[in-house]
Amino acid sequence: MTDQPTPAYAGPERVLSGVQPSGALHLGNYLGALKKFVALQDQFPTFLFVADMHAITVWQDPALLADQTREIAAAYLAAGLDPKKAAIFPQSAVRAHAELAWVFNCVARLGWLDRMTQFKEKSGKHKERSSIGLYTYPVLQAADILAYKATRVPVGEDQKQHLELTRDIAAKFNNDFNAPGFFPQPDPMIQGPGARIMSLRDGSAKMSKSDPSDLSRINLTDDADTIAKKIKKATTDPNPLPEDAADLDGRPEAKNLVGIYGALAGISSAEVLKQFGGQGFGAFKPALADLAVESLAPVSDAMRRFLGDKAEIDKVLADGAGRASEIAEPVVAEVKRLVGFWPGRA
Ligand code: TYM
Repeated sequence: MTDQPTPAYAGPERVLSGVQPSGALHLGNYLGALKKFVALQDQFPTFLFVADMHAITVWQDPALLADQTREIAAAYLAAGLDPKKAAIFPQSAVRAHAELAWVFNCVARLGWLDRMTQFKEKSGKHKERSSIGLYTYPVLQAADILAYKATRVPVGEDQKQHLELTRDIAAKFNNDFNAPGFFPQPDPMIQGPGARIMSLRDGSAKMSKSDPSDLSRINLTDDADTIAKKIKKATTDPNPLPEDAADLDGRPEAKNLVGIYGALAGISSAEVLKQFGGQGFGAFKPALADLAVESLAPVSDAMRRFLGDKAEIDKVLADGAGRASEIAEPVVAEVKRLVGFWPGRA
């Protein structure tokens, strides 16, 4: 990828992130993304969207998509986001995303996209039958971020490569159009204990909406009994938990469960092991199940409450889209000027 030095961006700090409305949210989404958003909304102007344009890169039932979008909005609110602080909106309701994505399609290089591992995973053996949208997905993601000149992008570890591409696109645009410092180099905020939550069935696969086994993940909408059952059935090894966090290496399932406990409790794995080191999973799993239920029940209850009032959610989304457009439209107007498009207004 390109490695051009970019003169410093001098604009304001902004936080932006998005979640796809393509299936039930799980614990990985909550710990890797939503929980981090809540902490940031008090520090910076924050823009959180529902990535419905990304969702349609694979087939989505048109009869369900709008409600799936509302569900993600409800999850944002239930996680503790305040729509007065963070703008919450559907991606498709702010046209700047699509407009900027086209310009970026002409900035990004085919070779850069050929390296994207997520496309390889998602397209599988049938690359030629995948949508072109799935291939250029990371370019739209760069547009999502840079339409707001976002400087901080809280995401889970699986988004790291997309964020690197975003930085490359920003640098190449600034360079190609002789606009040093126009776009920032966004900081992927991946750090933290919840950045990579793994499947409960296989400690080497990430927890994912698309895993065919529902036992592999804890959904935000699971009730207490289901959460307890899934943790009880989680794959483990036969040894007791170690005293030292370094001894979790080579024990992916144990590492994952200790990591989940730490992320939920807001403590490090070392601190979790101070409490549970030397104990077997027979003792640790019930404690983890209690903590998970205690942490997630208020979120799923609130989500249900918000979903009971669709009109209120739609108001939040419309208001958020308006505020988001106010920031993104002038950025795209400036991009069009830099690119040399006809300056008049149709
Ligand atoms: P999505 O919808 O797959 O996931 C939403 C967020 O959840 C994080 N995540 C995880 N974190 C920890 N452990 C896991 N097992 C786990 N699984 C998912 C993801 O990293 C993400 O932060 N491409 C994005 C959506 C997007 C976006 C953007 C994000 C579109 N445009 C611009 C940031 C900025 C996606 O598909 O996320």
